[in-house]
Order: sequence, then C-alpha cells, then structure tokens
Amino acid sequence: MTTILAIETSCDETGVAIVKKRKIFSNVVSSQIQIHRRYGGVVPEVASRQHLETINHCIIQAINEAKLNWDDIDGIAATCTPGLMGALLVGVTAAKTLAILHQKPFIGIHHLEGHIYASYLSQPELMPPFLCLLVSGGHTSLIHVRDCGDYSILGSTRDDAVGEAFDKVARLLDLGYPGGPVMDKLAQTGNPFKFTLPEGKISLPTGGYHPYDSSFSGLKTAVLRLVEKLKTQDSLLPVADVAASFQETVARVLTKKTITCALDYKIPTIAVGGGVAANSGLRQHLQVAAQEHNLNVYFPPLKFCTDNAAMIGCAASERLSRGYSSPLNLKVQSRLSITETTQLYN
Ligand code: KG4
Ligand code: ZN
Repeated sequence: MTTILAIETSCDETGVAIVKKRKIFSNVVSSQIQIHRRYGGVVPEVASRQHLETINHCIIQAINEAKLNWDDIDGIAATCTPGLMGALLVGVTAAKTLAILHQKPFIGIHHLEGHIYASYLSQPELMPPFLCLLVSGGHTSLIHVRDCGDYSILGSTRDDAVGEAFDKVARLLDLGYPGGPVMDKLAQTGNPFKFTLPEGKISLPTGGYHPYDSSFSGLKTAVLRLVEKLKTQDSLLPVADVAASFQETVARVLTKKTITCALDYKIPTIAVGGGVAANSGLRQHLQVAAQEHNLNVYFPPLKFCTDNAAMIGCAASERLSRGYSSPLNLKVQSRLSITETTQLYN
C-alpha cells in the first residue's frame, strides 16, 4: 500500500514519478536548463511559470508510462522545502489538488531527504545507518542517516555550496550555466596539478581546523585572482588546467572531510547524493580513499544525482508505510533543516 505519485519542483526541473519503495514505475523529468541558460542562472519567477506550464503534462505522462490508474496510487507527495517559494508552491498545490480529488493522503517531503533516498533507488541492499555526503547547488552537508527521519548534520559549508562554487567558477571562465557538468568535462582534459589552490580550512578557536565543515568562497576568489593574473599574460587562458586544478582541490577537500567523519564516527558506509555526486573527480577520489580505509561508498547513477521526483517518491513511500502524512494546509518553506522534518507531518 505504498505506491506514490511524487512531484518535484523545488528549482529548475519539473519532475513527476510513480514509485513503490525502491521500484520505479515511471520517472518524468522536464528540465528548464535551456531556458535559464540565457540568463546565466535560475530566475525564480521564470522557473515558477515554467513549472506551471509543464506540470500537468508531466503528471499525465508519468501515469501513462507507469500503466497504472488512480486506484493503484496510495498517496501523493511533493517536495515542500527547501527551495524557491514560487516553484515549490506549484508542485505542492498540484499534489494537494490530486490528493483531494482522488481522496489520497498527501505527503510533503524535504528535498534533501529525497537526495538521501536517491541512493536507495540504485542500491537495494543499502540500509541505514550510513553517512550521506550531500553535495548540490544549494547544499554541502555530511549527514548521519540513522533511520527514516532520524538525521544529524555532522558537517556543512560555511559559505558557498559546492555546486554553487562550480557554477560561479564556470561563469568567470565563460563556460555558461550550469557550470558543474561542463567544468567536469573540461577538467578531464586539463592538468589537475598545474595550479595550487587553497583548501578553505576553517580555524577553530581552540586551535587547529574544523574536521568536517568546509568553505568554498576563498577557493572561488583564489580562482578569480588566478584568472585575472593569467589574463595579463600574452598566452591563451589555460581554461582546462584551471578547471582541473579547481576540481582536484574540491574533490580532495570533500574526500578528506568525508573519510575523516566516517572513521571518527565509525560509520562504515558512505552514500553520496546531489548534483555534484555526478562529478568524476569526486567519484574517483572518494572511491580510492574509501577502499584504502575499508569503507563502502555508493554513488547513485547520474539521473538520480540531479533533481528528480523518483527520489521524492522513494522517501514518501517509506514515510507513508510508517504512517506519516501531511496536513492539507502544510506551507512551503524556502529553508528548513533536514533535522526538523517532524513538523511536516500530522
Ligand atoms: O542536486 P541538484 O540537481 O540541484 C540542487 O538541489 O541544487 O544540483 C545541481 C548542481 C549544480 O550546481 C550543477 O552545476 C552541479 O550540481 N553539477 C555538477 C555536475 N553535475 C551537476 N557539479 C560538478 N560536476 C558535475 N558533473
Ligand atoms: Zn537537489
């Protein structure tokens, strides 16, 4: 009794999926990237309007592809926080309307819980407890996943999220939006040791450095200074070497923090989630380091790294099976900590 129709509209992908636990019946994603590209980033108002235009088509397509009818659906879910308010509102309103119309429970899902659940979709054997490295356009967190809804944040970023840093560096290298995938591709053709960049260590008042928190704004500024300096020279800007050196630094920092955290807390399994989990440098570094320390590491396939509704459906399916549902007057929230999901449920 846990087949879910799930909607994801927190940022620039309109997603609708039908999922039962870890089984996907359909997973429709309509990306707005081409529309936002001309502005160099996501324009919130444009995103909301686009979700509104696309959502009904995506719902119909998801139902048709799953070859199910409404009687087969046990609950309707939507991402309700964190994200762009107008964008979230489109998905949540659509989900509540379907829930009322078809008399099904409504389940609001925290977007980051969705990214955590993306790992379950491709790893049927994965069970909590594990350490989730969540790296997306808006978040960089180390989350101890003890059970569904039982999370603690062990590390986070003090400033820019790592995906945001990829996007900003890509912009200053004139690589367009979104920066992560194009930087990743370019980095694979460059020399990662050409330029030494700062790791953004965070000093502790007691001395030494914070073992799990990260900071990427200093690294981004260092790339800006480097590019300014290189531009004063006669030769062509070595864009691939800059991208490779940046990616190498990010991958090394994230790997060090994640492995230290897993070892300190004696958590033998690491699952990575969010758009930056697609990054080839991070995948390589973390896989090698995990093997060295006898830890398991799981990366979702690329289609589950970036935003999609299948991961929201997977989380909602687990929530509903445990008796959770949300009130129909649940509000969307632009920010909410992953440790505060209890307030989303009756
Ligand atoms: O999880 P996601 O789709 O959306 C958020 O919840 O933020 O993540 C999007 C972020 C963007 O910043 C994008 O540049 C980054 O993920 N990204 C990557 C790669 N693919 C996507 N960053 C580095 N390497 C990649 N291959
Ligand atoms: Zn996301």
